[in-house]
Amino acid sequence: MAATLNTALVMGETIKAVQPTKAAIKAVRGTRDLLPPETELWNHIDATARRVFARYNFGEIRTPVFEDTQLFARGVGEETDIVSKEMYTWEDKARAQSEKAQSLTLRPENTAGVVRAYIEHKLGEQGLLQKLYYIGPQFRRERPQKGRYRQFFQIGAEVIGPPSAGSESPLRDAEVLEMLATLLNELGIAGWRLLINSVGTPADRPRYIATLRAALQPVVGQMCTDCQRRAETNPLRVLDCKHPEDQPIIATLPRIWDSLDEASRAHFQQVCEALDACGVPYEHDHRLVRGLDYYTRTTFEFQHGGLGAQNALLGGGRYDGLSEAIGGPRAPGIGFAIGEDRLVLTLQAQVEAQTVRADAYIAPIGEAQNSQALALARELRAAGLRIELGDGGFRLKKSFETADKLARKIVILGEDEAASGILTVKDFATGEQTKVPKADLAAHLLPH
Ligand code: HAM
Repeated sequence: MAATLNTALVMGETIKAVQPTKAAIKAVRGTRDLLPPETELWNHIDATARRVFARYNFGEIRTPVFEDTQLFARGVGEETDIVSKEMYTWEDKARAQSEKAQSLTLRPENTAGVVRAYIEHKLGEQGLLQKLYYIGPQFRRERPQKGRYRQFFQIGAEVIGPPSAGSESPLRDAEVLEMLATLLNELGIAGWRLLINSVGTPADRPRYIATLRAALQPVVGQMCTDCQRRAETNPLRVLDCKHPEDQPIIATLPRIWDSLDEASRAHFQQVCEALDACGVPYEHDHRLVRGLDYYTRTTFEFQHGGLGAQNALLGGGRYDGLSEAIGGPRAPGIGFAIGEDRLVLTLQAQVEAQTVRADAYIAPIGEAQNSQALALARELRAAGLRIELGDGGFRLKKSFETADKLARKIVILGEDEAASGILTVKDFATGEQTKVPKADLAAHLLPH
């Protein structure tokens, strides 16, 4: 290739003649390259999370990115969307006689992996709580859209241990939620909402599911096909259906709270009291059941309006039976995972919203107007305005595009305007175009 290129140059041919002709290979759908300067923001978020977690005495755990498929089938639940439709699973053939073929899966989430490691390394044997955090990629075959990717990153943490270490205490739930509020505030995320609920214990659940099934029976025929399927396989999932047409029906369904036993209600109330005591605001959302089967009692989400449809910045909850479900000892736990991609989107949107725009961009039309434009800029700046000055060599389209990025308004200074002293001003926010005499321009450009 190098020789071809040199020969081509020596012979005076254009470089184009030796450009590769094969189609360029692109990143796989749903995956992304993270490039500078954005990676600075990712590193800043990671560093802030590590610093906050250290203050709460959490240590880092790193588990493999692929695991035995059974871990997720038994841990997360066969009927969940994640396990039934979204996993990257393959059959790893035996390479030696001593090896068995094994079904493996790229981790769609990390709680099951952390609990597997807790069991495998007997971390509960000292009788203490394990407080572990992780940062890393997860994989789900979802339909990609803004804030939803097939490889995405989570920052998560888990508090797990034997009941004698206090792992079931509502204080642990409240401490985790208070830590999250601290982290989001420290990152400068403005306007988050914390929604919490209790989904009760495995003893409460069948009671609620029976009530829910009965309530769904007469109405499910009018709901979306996903809900019709879920009503059969996993009726709880109906509650987090996002179809707008189904919402009036969902609003009439019975609440899980009415099926909880006294102990579950008292646990939830103690979480709320502890949050009240430390001033962390929250809302009790009766429909928050979340998409993973391991949850018991407390479930929560932090949402952010700026994210659009994918508004869950993070989610989590208690999973008191997960360890036993995957063959371990009794080890109740609570944890969360933040969608780091969504955190980055939220912070970027905030920074954009805060970007100071110039009051006006002066666009001379033709290089002959450059000097006049500089004189006009000088006058306006002297009046205290923040002014960007374009260049008469730019085409009008380029001036408009640049101005739209930098300023609230554009002032056109062409030959006609220079002769008449009447300038054309366009306001980007309203789209309004006005003719303004030069004497009134400074007043017109002042921010209201
Ligand atoms: P999850 O709700 O499935 O919970 O995911 C947690 C967060 O990861 C979501 O709130 C969202 O911000 C982000 N996320 C999920 N899927 C995607 C995606 N396709 N693209 C971008 N971001 C995504 C769990 O994963 C649980 N393991 C959380 C947990 C920890 N519960 C207890 N401990």
